[in-house]
Amino acid sequence: MNLRVIPGHPLRGAVDLPGDKSLSHRTALLAALARGASRIENFLVAGVTRPLLACLSELGVSWQLDGQLLTVIGEGIEALRPPQRPFDCGNSGATLRMMAGALAAAGIPAVLDGSPGLRARPMDRLADPLRAMGVPIETAARGRAPLTLGARPGERPLHARAYTLPVPSAQVKTALLLAGLAADGPTRLTEPIASRDHTERLLSRMGVEIRVEPHAAPDPGCTVTLQPPAQPLRPLTLRLPGDFSSAAFLIVGALITPGSEVTLRDVGLNPRRTGLLDVLRSMGARIAVDSCDIRDGEETGDLTVRYSPLVGAEVEGPLFIRMIDETPAFAVAAAFAAGNSAVRRAEELRVKESDRIASLCRGLSALGVEIHEAPDGFELPDGTPPRGGAAGCAGDHRLALALAIAGLAAEEPVTIEGAEVIDESFPGFVGSLQSLGAVLHPEREQ
Ligand code: S3P
Repeated sequence: MNLRVIPGHPLRGAVDLPGDKSLSHRTALLAALARGASRIENFLVAGVTRPLLACLSELGVSWQLDGQLLTVIGEGIEALRPPQRPFDCGNSGATLRMMAGALAAAGIPAVLDGSPGLRARPMDRLADPLRAMGVPIETAARGRAPLTLGARPGERPLHARAYTLPVPSAQVKTALLLAGLAADGPTRLTEPIASRDHTERLLSRMGVEIRVEPHAAPDPGCTVTLQPPAQPLRPLTLRLPGDFSSAAFLIVGALITPGSEVTLRDVGLNPRRTGLLDVLRSMGARIAVDSCDIRDGEETGDLTVRYSPLVGAEVEGPLFIRMIDETPAFAVAAAFAAGNSAVRRAEELRVKESDRIASLCRGLSALGVEIHEAPDGFELPDGTPPRGGAAGCAGDHRLALALAIAGLAAEEPVTIEGAEVIDESFPGFVGSLQSLGAVLHPEREQ
């Protein structure tokens, strides 16, 4: 599908967002490991979560979706049964990595595989520490998927380890914490920069003793210690907030389109996820947060965003980790900002759903934005708003979303090729924008 965006229509009104992707993956998987019935409202039903649900079925877990309400009947980690075929994790790195941790805890053999894009992403950062815990695990060449986990007698625990993650990664951290549930002592993980902490918060709610120690400033790192529980995990009942990573695109869309004023209701505002808000505010963005709450262990609030003239900003280090998935949205804001903007020390973007440094620079350049690729990031020497035209999105949902919002305030219409990938994480994106007054036309290819 191509998506054609006609610029020049202000965004006005209020919308709700699909449920948080990170929390959807975690709650579904943790609910499957718990003993009892879990109820997860506002679950993200989308391309990235379908493979995880299919894997759960394969493991013998019973679950049901009723609209966005997911019910999971967990019978405990010991009740998972060995899958009959390799898992297809699609494009979902979270599914593959987190599932590897859960299977390691269960000690059952499995093969974890996915799309060609997923096979290109690094898995040795997960396989190496799992091996050190005693998990029999093989990767394909160069530490890539498929991952093959061997059987381990259920009664033999994994080795408890203290491990420093070389690259901050919430997916790897989650997998190791899940494996740690079946270890013979405490698992102690140190991250050089603290990544999102949803798993830690959820495990604590489920009755696991888990200690989170942020390092003393200015060290941005954090150490997490998990004690293997003596009791089964308690089931979850919660309502997931809207995904801040999806909200990011509407936030930037409203900031760059003159005359816009948009309210995004009930958005997740976990401080380890909201680096983009801080950067945008430093750029002059007018964003108000109301109805702040902490629900089911996560910060939430309503965001009201008004069109704002922006100035450039530079991002790296801990701030980059707090907005890792929002970098494409930031690049679009930077294209509309006066003065220099840059993202540095962000090589990790090269191993996301695409090489996001290269594909972002290619996509925005195709629309007429001046953006220069660097080995570790990119630079926009001065905001040059997009002229318009057509651009591909390298099969990357966040790139397609970024190019679409760039089109809202371009000089001429913008066409995004292969835009069906948006449904991976943001089903209803086109409808939400249309309800706010944007003009977009999905065009099916002949
Ligand atoms: C995620 C962690 C991040 C992020 C991804 C979701 C998670 O990946 O980019 O979209 O839910 O834990 P990494 O762990 O690879 O940094």
